[in-house]
Amino acid sequence: MTDPSPPPEPTAPSAAEAAPAPPVSPGEVLLEVTDLRTTFSSPRGPVRAVRGVSLTLRRGRTLGVVGESGSGKSVLSRSIMGLVPSNATRTGSVRFAGTEILNADAKVMRSYWGDQMAMVFQDPMTALNPVLRVEQQITESLHEHIDLTKKQARDTAMQLLESVGIPEPARRLRMYPHELSGGMRQRIMIAIALACGPRLLFADEPTTALDVTVQAQILDLLQTMQQDRQMAMILVTHDLGVVAGRAHDIAVMYAGRIVEQAPAASLFAHMRHPYTEALLRSIPKLEMSKHTRLDAIGGRPPDLVNIPEGCAFAPRCPHAQDRCLTEDPQLVPDPADPDHLYACHFPVHGVLAAATPVTVGAASGADAGASS
Ligand SMILES: Nc1ncnc2c1ncn2[C@@H]1O[C@H](COP(=O)(O)OP(=O)(O)OP(=O)(O)O)[C@@H](O)[C@H]1O
Ligand code: SF4
Ligand SMILES: [Mg+2]
Repeated sequence: MTDPSPPPEPTAPSAAEAAPAPPVSPGEVLLEVTDLRTTFSSPRGPVRAVRGVSLTLRRGRTLGVVGESGSGKSVLSRSIMGLVPSNATRTGSVRFAGTEILNADAKVMRSYWGDQMAMVFQDPMTALNPVLRVEQQITESLHEHIDLTKKQARDTAMQLLESVGIPEPARRLRMYPHELSGGMRQRIMIAIALACGPRLLFADEPTTALDVTVQAQILDLLQTMQQDRQMAMILVTHDLGVVAGRAHDIAVMYAGRIVEQAPAASLFAHMRHPYTEALLRSIPKLEMSKHTRLDAIGGRPPDLVNIPEGCAFAPRCPHAQDRCLTEDPQLVPDPADPDHLYACHFPVHGVLAAATPVTVGAASGADAGASS
């Protein structure tokens, strides 16, 4: 696929050559992230963008990562993929199909991009190369990873466009990105990301720039592709409504940490973290009248250079007590449901459980309930 960012510098001493990632059966663990921390150096001091994230993702499963702007969702995804700039330092562990890749150098990571893991970016206009025709953008990635003749690469590109619902694929292959609508461009991005059959797909706010109907189509398409190919997918969004009905599990991020993580059904039925509750209050519900005012979350996320002692959400939390100002809550399992984790001294009791959020396109393919 077209490299969306400048090639990253190696961010740590080179790891031993990564062996080719071995096969992983559906349902087996594909990605294991442990205590991942990403810090950027900046003139103001270290920016602690990801502060100890652990997660596990099995083949064929979708994890929704949700949080406000600046909570670290993109940095987390890019840190897992190894797409970080040279002012970033990463520590912890990222294991892909059992192989540690956190310290793998850029050359090794390049062999993973495209055919092991790929990303659909938020803004296809900046991620697509404006001066290359669609065909070249798709076949470039195919030629890099798979030994194909020119004709085979072109046929594959046509099939990919068809599979992502693009009519008249032969004509579209000759077009430039500016000749296509926003929805078409996003479909092309998905085709490029899927070109080499990745086992893990990151979809980072894949629909933000699109209108609601096209959003639903793109989310449905991603879900279908994920299911057909038994890929693992990390669906990143600021909108809990987007992941409802589409993700098997949900991780809610705040100030660089996961503050609540659970199977989707459990999260919506019994949310425990006040921040998750606030996020849910801030999205529209079906039963609301058109003029209902939504509860925006008051205040701002903390400055990641000066994160307060205690709970990072305390200055905005309606349930905060003295203990919250001094004691940093850890992510622990709910005693009644070990798959449901939260980081809060005074958890709420899912008072909004009855209010089902609006799902964009309301797909129901994810059998929420099992752990990732
Ligand atoms: N190269 C960088 N140098 C310094 N700080 C950075 C860099 N890249 C990201 N950050 C900071 O890391 C934090 C997390 O950013 P990130 O892009 O992951 O947020 P996000 O949750 O994806 O937000 P959004 O919903 O707006 O996409 C932000 O405070 C951002 O300013
Ligand atoms: S630990 Fe305290 S401040 Fe933090 S979310 Fe829970 S109740 Fe609110
Ligand atoms: Mg982002």
